[in-house]
Amino acid sequence: MVVSLCIVGAPGLIGQRHTQHALDEPNVNLTCIVDPTPAGPPYAEKLGVKLYRSTEEMLAARAAGEVKVDAAILATPNATHVPLGIKLVQAGIHTLVEKPFSTDVNSGKALLEAEAASWAKILVGHHRRFNPYIANTKKLLDDNKLGRILAVQGTWACLKPMSYFAAPTEWRKEKGTGGVLMINLSHEIDCLRYLFGDITRVYCEVGASTRGYPVDETGAVTLRFASGVVGTFLFSDASASPYFFEAATGENPLMPQAGETVYTILGTQSSLAFPSLEVWHYPSPSGSWTDPLLRSDPLPLDPTPPFTHQLRHFVDVVEGRAEPRCSGRDALQTIATLEAIARSIETGLPVEVQQL
Ligand SMILES: NC(=O)c1ccc[n+]([C@@H]2O[C@H](COP(=O)([O-])OP(=O)(O)OC[C@H]3O[C@@H](n4cnc5c(N)ncnc54)[C@H](O)[C@@H]3O)[C@@H](O)[C@H]2O)c1
Repeated sequence: MVVSLCIVGAPGLIGQRHTQHALDEPNVNLTCIVDPTPAGPPYAEKLGVKLYRSTEEMLAARAAGEVKVDAAILATPNATHVPLGIKLVQAGIHTLVEKPFSTDVNSGKALLEAEAASWAKILVGHHRRFNPYIANTKKLLDDNKLGRILAVQGTWACLKPMSYFAAPTEWRKEKGTGGVLMINLSHEIDCLRYLFGDITRVYCEVGASTRGYPVDETGAVTLRFASGVVGTFLFSDASASPYFFEAATGENPLMPQAGETVYTILGTQSSLAFPSLEVWHYPSPSGSWTDPLLRSDPLPLDPTPPFTHQLRHFVDVVEGRAEPRCSGRDALQTIATLEAIARSIETGLPVEVQQL
């Protein structure tokens, strides 16, 4: 079966990427897009698909039999995910909700309730779960190649231009809904939870503001995981640095690959640098600090782009062949973790993460 798809926010930064992958995918038919801005008409014309100015307009056209929509990708600003997501799932449309799932736990619960009352399913766009470097890291951890995991250290630091925060995308500097926490640390927390399980306690120190916007730019978080793993994470969207996931892995075609280490994972038998994925270990189980360490070769990488894998998985979810790799419930635990980090920034204290 070919899935009839609508992309809401298609002319936006990530909407265009979803659109290209949808056009390339034989099991998907892009029937329409939704966008309220002047960018909508020329983009719809270029694609040769119907344009609706709002989700309500698209739903009315669908109800009138004017357009077929089985599934939607919601690629709109963070604060719109819950209200638009509720409308889509209430209409029985399976929805890939871009990350972050919501901007707070309470509103996110309302979207989960709407999903539970519908037969439509939600997949959350934490596409790094389909990234080949993350897939190989998870395989090494699941195969116990590192022994017991003790600690993880990570960095996501890049320099965003001022234009990134300017109209019409000024939502990116709104406190509580935009900023590096909701836009970027949301990816990192999901990745860490995917690899090491849930986070139970956080503490965050915030760095200097260079732009003077209401949102934070730079910070350092300590993390305690339910498994006993401990971690530290540096984040910054105001640093001239190659130490961020996209530059490390080359997964975003807009960002040149640098290949520098962005995560270090420490285990009792071996340690791992990401994304080189070389595993450092001793030649024998009795080895220790005065022995030379060996480096094992990384596993081969799957060259298929993560967005292609994610879209194919979404088709499988729509057609009932798979459960969402990142469900709304799972993604909401990431929001609870981000909420705890925000509270730690406000209070200057460690904060226990609400477990949903
Ligand atoms: N998975 C990823 O790697 C990734 C990367 C970037 C952004 N994102 C997420 O994707 C979402 C969009 O981010 P972006 O940077 O592309 O934003 P953007 O502002 O560039 O694009 C948003 C699009 O949504 C449209 N829009 C706004 N309000 C709308 C509404 N009410 N109804 C329909 N369309 C509406 C805008 O006109 C625009 O076309 C955010 O939630 C962001 O966190 C994910």
